[in-house]
Amino acid sequence: MVHRQMEKRIVFATGNEGKMREIRMILKDMGMRVVSMREAGIEAEIEENGTTFEENAVIKARAVMERCGEIVMADDSGLEIDYLDGAPGVYSARFMGEDTSYDIKNSALLEKLRSVPEEQRSARFVCAVACALPDGRVLTSRGVMEGIIGWEIRGENGFGYDPIFYLPEYGKTSAEISPELKNELSHRGKALREMKRQLSAALQEAER
Ligand code: IMP
Repeated sequence: MVHRQMEKRIVFATGNEGKMREIRMILKDMGMRVVSMREAGIEAEIEENGTTFEENAVIKARAVMERCGEIVMADDSGLEIDYLDGAPGVYSARFMGEDTSYDIKNSALLEKLRSVPEEQRSARFVCAVACALPDGRVLTSRGVMEGIIGWEIRGENGFGYDPIFYLPEYGKTSAEISPELKNELSHRGKALREMKRQLSAALQEAER
């Protein structure tokens, strides 16, 4: 226990392995070990009953911090499709059921937009990150990646809706670009880099 308190680490409140891979890459220069909830030995089913990405990120980060007393980060993210009035949005993971494969979810979304012209296919990935500190402070940040919904499922990288999220300036989906480029461009990359700045400042302030 003493050892754990002295070790500088961040517990990331997610069970999603695809996200965890990206998060570790983006946070690797923080000088702190980033462990998943599972690696930290915390089991928690947290109800994401917020109505915004920010609310859900804060709910998750606070709940896990209260359980372990360590620095906890959480993200809440999703895909907003303008033609569908922002759906699936905060329900992105739950869209058509948590256990439904992304092949099925992605095909269903492509079908909904089948005859929709390019100029009406705009969409964005949004990510809110919250960091709950043991002293009760909660930091938040947000990042966005703009694109359009493509016409077919393409690419093997990434996870979730990446194979249908087309980046016109690259001529590729976010499942076809390299993991390094995705982290540079992505909603999660932007929100986490901003959170790194905020957390470093907050920790420096605490040391003063
Ligand atoms: P949550 O943030 O764990 O509630 O779930 C977010 C959901 O949004 C994921 O399960 C994916 O379906 C989707 N999502 C969020 N970020 C990405 C991404 O970078 N690529 C593909 N899908 C994403």
